[in-house]
Amino acid sequence: MKITIVGTGYVGLVTGTCFAEMGHTVLCVDNDESKIKMLKNLEMPIYEVGLQELVAKNVAEKRLSFTTSIQEGTEFAEAIFIAVGTPPGYRGQANLSYVEQVGRQVAESMTDYRLLVEKSTVPVNTGEQLKRTIAKYLREDIPFDVASNPEFLKEGTALEDAFKPDRIVVGVESERAGTLLRKIYQPLIDKSGCKFLQMNIASAELTKHASNSFLATKISFINAVARVCELAGADVEQVAHGMGLDLRIGPQFLRAGVGYGGSCFPKDVDAFVHLADQLGYNFQLLKEVQHINKTQREFMMQKIQHELWVVQGKKIAVLGLAFKPGTDDIREAPSLYFIPQLMEAGAKLRLWDPIAQENFNREHPGLKYYDTPLACAEGADLVLILTDWPEVKELDLAKLKETMRCPVIIDGRNTFNPQTVKELGFTYESVGRP
Ligand SMILES: NC(=O)c1ccc[n+]([C@@H]2O[C@H](COP(=O)([O-])OP(=O)(O)OC[C@H]3O[C@@H](n4cnc5c(N)ncnc54)[C@H](O)[C@@H]3O)[C@@H](O)[C@H]2O)c1
Repeated sequence: MKITIVGTGYVGLVTGTCFAEMGHTVLCVDNDESKIKMLKNLEMPIYEVGLQELVAKNVAEKRLSFTTSIQEGTEFAEAIFIAVGTPPGYRGQANLSYVEQVGRQVAESMTDYRLLVEKSTVPVNTGEQLKRTIAKYLREDIPFDVASNPEFLKEGTALEDAFKPDRIVVGVESERAGTLLRKIYQPLIDKSGCKFLQMNIASAELTKHASNSFLATKISFINAVARVCELAGADVEQVAHGMGLDLRIGPQFLRAGVGYGGSCFPKDVDAFVHLADQLGYNFQLLKEVQHINKTQREFMMQKIQHELWVVQGKKIAVLGLAFKPGTDDIREAPSLYFIPQLMEAGAKLRLWDPIAQENFNREHPGLKYYDTPLACAEGADLVLILTDWPEVKELDLAKLKETMRCPVIIDGRNTFNPQTVKELGFTYESVGRP
């Protein structure tokens, strides 16, 4: 089948490549000319393990191509997936201007039936608004459908998630749309055995926001437990292990740390709270989830200040800038909270990340970056761990101690065994552990 994907970011490019690998012929559209130029040269605008090879393979086999022309994309296929960004708006609500723009442009280019599929994460009832927009901008009375097909992939394991989804959720309101989406996904269903859930559009939209908000709730819950652990002399890692083995709870998203970040959880929780408020429901639980996440970072900052006493002039080595390992994405990463504050306090910052340095440098030019964690820690008064990259987990701690000026580690990811680190002579502060 032919498929058009609009937006070639983390979701659009991975989804398009996955569809192509399944045997469909995919045209990816993006209005960022530099991205399309890179993709045509088989250079990846984002980092995702295995993506470059798979893009190159499908381009060579003529199942994947790229364009900046939305008109070409509209003419190309009956099904058009919208995978553009939905960043946070000024009061936490989702900014839907990119989705609306695509809806308008597709409507103006349409000459035959089209199915517009919301792949982007959008608030419930966006489908209704999209339908109204398309109807308004259509030049003549052409039939069309809108559907919701939220994406659940995770950066860092995006390809794996795309090929082996836990479930495929689609929201439709016509048989034609349901049949088309089922046909598109049939090869993936056959191969992965995953469930295909068909529901109405509002339910599909809400499934995405509810899922992300629930996962964020799990993270804030364990971070709150970590605070109690510190007060009570308990170990949150052991508590989480004990909880996670209960099949009703599960071990995922029960890792205490500096709080959730990334391009999805913060904005999706904000958008869900905002949407619930608008609908007339005060989602107090999620407001507390947001509050715990914010204070978790503040609490870590207090630990840094406590250790250093005076931050001014101290060399701080920050290990990890991406919001999690396996990605170059720094959107809402903890590093964006800590680094500006430490800069303001007069710290001399030394930064390391294996792949996110370029993205970070774009936001904060002029900082010093190093090639390895050890080089970064040279002469440091304190090491701050923000991303548990394998290179950090595998650090030679004896060498680290030797290279630092003062052996102090503030570990926002509970990377090391506190006992081992202490025995080596470090002052070590992590999250929720005695
Ligand atoms: N990143 C994730 O892990 C993830 C996971 C699940 C869902 N989502 C959701 O998917 C959506 C996309 O996220 P992302 O991380 O891929 O975003 P992204 O910012 O990486 O990519 C969005 C792309 O859309 C392009 N774009 C914007 N307006 C356009 C237009 N009018 N025409 C053509 N292209 C346009 C941008 O140039 C950009 O390349 C968001 O709603 C996000 O919440 C993201």
